[in-house]
Amino acid sequence: MIKVTSEQIAEQYKIMHSVREHFSALGKEPKCYIRTFGCQQNEADSEQLRGMTSEMGYARTDTPEDADLILINTCAVREHAELRALSTTGQFKKLKEKNPELYIGVCGCMVTQEHRMDQVKKSYPYVDFLVGTGMLYKLPEILAKQLDGGKRSFTVDSPEGSLAEGLPIERESKATAWVSVMYGCNNFCSYCVVPYTRGRERSRERSDILAEVKRVIADGAKEITLLGQNVNSYSSDGGDFADLVDEICALDGDFILRFMTSHPKDASRKLIDTMAKNDKCAKQFHLPLQSGSGRILHEMNRKYTPESYLELVKYMREKMPDIALSSDIIVGFPGETDEEFEETLSMLRTVGFDMVYSFIYSPRPLTPAAAMTCQIPQEVKSKRFDRLLEVQNEISLAKNLSLVGKHQRVLVTGESKNSPDMLTGRADSNKLVHIPRDAASEAYIGKFANVKITKAETFALFGELA
Ligand code: 5AD
Ligand code: SF4
Repeated sequence: MIKVTSEQIAEQYKIMHSVREHFSALGKEPKCYIRTFGCQQNEADSEQLRGMTSEMGYARTDTPEDADLILINTCAVREHAELRALSTTGQFKKLKEKNPELYIGVCGCMVTQEHRMDQVKKSYPYVDFLVGTGMLYKLPEILAKQLDGGKRSFTVDSPEGSLAEGLPIERESKATAWVSVMYGCNNFCSYCVVPYTRGRERSRERSDILAEVKRVIADGAKEITLLGQNVNSYSSDGGDFADLVDEICALDGDFILRFMTSHPKDASRKLIDTMAKNDKCAKQFHLPLQSGSGRILHEMNRKYTPESYLELVKYMREKMPDIALSSDIIVGFPGETDEEFEETLSMLRTVGFDMVYSFIYSPRPLTPAAAMTCQIPQEVKSKRFDRLLEVQNEISLAKNLSLVGKHQRVLVTGESKNSPDMLTGRADSNKLVHIPRDAASEAYIGKFANVKITKAETFALFGELA
């Protein structure tokens, strides 16, 4: 792992400030548009990209046509995400033709893969620079060279990845904050590209994380989500992830703590005990199962069995009877038989997840599963996917209906995407809750409200201030 030194970060700050001066000397107020694909880690990375561009004097715009700088932060976890990022990049060609002073950068996981980097180099000549996930901290340097008339540049990571502290972050929301605790992954699940795009596991120092958490609390954050590809393998100063959670929960402030993602082979009893004893810890767990078949889990290199998974769930429910559980499932992994798919459905029924994110298996270059000869035809994968949704939607709805008439603490975050007459927020269980918008509910934006649930749908609850 490459630890970026404080001198290197100071150098980036120096460049950021000279870029800002360059624009102000020209009397220019440049604007930056950022488009993010993929997971919460990418959202968090984009908040850092936003922080750096603001420090360089760029104002935010949500209209690419107005931008002087466009950054596309990409995902590689499934082919679909890559194709969307490429098609979005393609749409910016005409903007570059109209405005030669526009700079376009493609960042993140997709371009960390050599074949995609080559593709963007060759087929998207109007893209000025590429920056891989572990090199994002170099954006100021890369952009300054471009502004100085430099050649196209391609900066991607070393396979082990890097760790950079102290970069500016501009968060999307005041009430909710992502805080990365570790980066990368060593698990090499046979379907997954992440170890290749985000490098080896590395943890941030506990003191750096605690300082950041204190800062976001002071800035008004009410929900803090600790992020990492496998938070359970966090380790710093001899302390593990449960110790970190315990320490954060002991901080002053009215906030709720969440974390993601966990790996069932590493989620410890100690972590579950820590969650149970800390009121500030959300009684919610995202625990990707991926498949309910022991043979497929073995082929996926997941290193747990359906039985050990169920044991873990049992322990969680003993300690926290109301815990909300969510999961990720992949359908159509190479060689998955109808019976093995049925085993997954049966696990969904046995566990009774509140929420499941399901994905059609997508072969990823370099991963062992992509080379397996027994790939499942698309129609079969689609049929299984639809069937899984049908089964899980019924379970999610029943779980949500059981909350009607009950009270839930909800962090109200703002206007509902469905209607300007509604506000939206998350219950402690992480379920989406809509409430009518009026003067009384508006006063709760950015705060916790006690909400009585009056109606439930598969993906959301509805309620009113109690
Ligand atoms: N195809 C489909 N889904 C995948 N995931 C990871 N890799 C793939 C792939 N190749 C899913 C897993 C993971 C989630 C973030 O994405 O379920 O937990
Ligand atoms: Fe991918 Fe497995 Fe690592 Fe999760 S644990 S990021 S699925 S390799």
